[in-house]
Amino acid sequence: MTSSDDRSGSSMMMGHEHGNISLQDSTGENELIIPPILKSDKLEGNDIYYTIEAQKGQTEIFEGFQTETLGYNSTFLGPVMKLKKGQTAHIKLKNSLDEETTFHWHGLIIAGDADGGPHDVIQPGEEKEITFDVQQERATLWFHPHPKGKTAKQVFEGLAGLMYIEDDMDDPYVHGENDFPLIIQDRTFNDQKQLDYETVKNADGTMGETLLINGTLHPRLTVNKEKVRLRLLNGSNMRNYTFKLSNNQSFQQIASDGGLLNEPVELTDIQLTPSERAEIVIDFSKIKENEDVELVMDDGTVLLPFKVKNEENKVQEEIQKPQNPITITKEEMQKEVSKEIVLFGMMQHVTINGKKFDMNRIDFTQKVGETEVWEIYNKPDMMGGMIHPFHIHGTQFKVISINGEDPPENLQGYKDTIALDPGDKAKIAVKFEQEGVFMYHCHILEHEDNGMMGQIKVE
Ligand code: C2O
Ligand code: CU
Ligand code: CU
Repeated sequence: MTSSDDRSGSSMMMGHEHGNISLQDSTGENELIIPPILKSDKLEGNDIYYTIEAQKGQTEIFEGFQTETLGYNSTFLGPVMKLKKGQTAHIKLKNSLDEETTFHWHGLIIAGDADGGPHDVIQPGEEKEITFDVQQERATLWFHPHPKGKTAKQVFEGLAGLMYIEDDMDDPYVHGENDFPLIIQDRTFNDQKQLDYETVKNADGTMGETLLINGTLHPRLTVNKEKVRLRLLNGSNMRNYTFKLSNNQSFQQIASDGGLLNEPVELTDIQLTPSERAEIVIDFSKIKENEDVELVMDDGTVLLPFKVKNEENKVQEEIQKPQNPITITKEEMQKEVSKEIVLFGMMQHVTINGKKFDMNRIDFTQKVGETEVWEIYNKPDMMGGMIHPFHIHGTQFKVISINGEDPPENLQGYKDTIALDPGDKAKIAVKFEQEGVFMYHCHILEHEDNGMMGQIKVE
């Protein structure tokens, strides 16, 4: 499948639907919680210092109930860490959980030893400082734990935060005013309103019937009659979402995983599989008075009702263009495939190239700065198979083709995760800027934990 329409409808075609837990509509009772911008400890010229602490606590998600949760610098989820291209970041990592964890920067171009993969465990009560140069374009990235076999549980319990990379270009949008992150997650709570991962987990990916956006139950979002940027992050363990507006109004996608697209792409719906991001701009000045508009899924499930205030349209410029002039070079196009990846299996039997993850085995090597063409194949099984979102650490890659055809426009920018339907074969151009050992894996977190992961050594 290659056209954007086909791809966005494809979540309906999953082979093993494993219970297919449907998501409940948001009633819009609660105003969306906006994650705060993390204050730096210190800013000295180009050097910025932050502390990120993984901690446990209790959060009132349901009125009148305390839920045991995990969070970064808070009891649930985390703040937005802002970094600027050209800065040197010094981040103190503190583990105040009572279990081991790691701090992984999803989408960040970084050396392997600071990337926070399963090798970089921080024991309970311990801390560590990492330093790295921010060398990529503006983008919406995120961070989450990555301990071997325990990623799914820790993310499920609340560990996830956002990282915004910025640059010197003007940005007309303001956080919390007309620029909103939406961390979209589905969860199952037990009768005591607790997140009991061991009871509800599913080896093919844990779903839940309860929607949380930025940790808000039954969220709604109040906006002005103006252009609004939503930074969508599918932070769910396995659920795929196809987002659209209830009035079928189109919107502009301006950025994908790794930053701005060459040109905004006009869409009426967009699919995001786990860990994918998209920045979209919705023009609320087009909404008529008293018109109800909601962010919905393609099956009509209400995710986020909007309350449009009848305020004057602010004049709003677009983000400067041209943005990221990302092109697949001829040279990249013509390179032979040098790495083949086969994703296969389900439940506990998931593999990459017939193998399960082994911390002590390096599966591939690649030279720093050298572009190679990887071919990723989602091999169907007897049951049909399922979508696997394939992710690579420490890099932003470019999609050359999907099943021999050009990728849809909105997949032509930088990506760190690509969704493959059963039977799909994609070619991607991959370059690492930094040395180290990096993971590549399926971002259905239970598949990752079950060994659908490999390691590449870049030197
Ligand atoms: Cu979100 Cu191994 O990554
Ligand atoms: Cu990652
Ligand atoms: Cu998978």
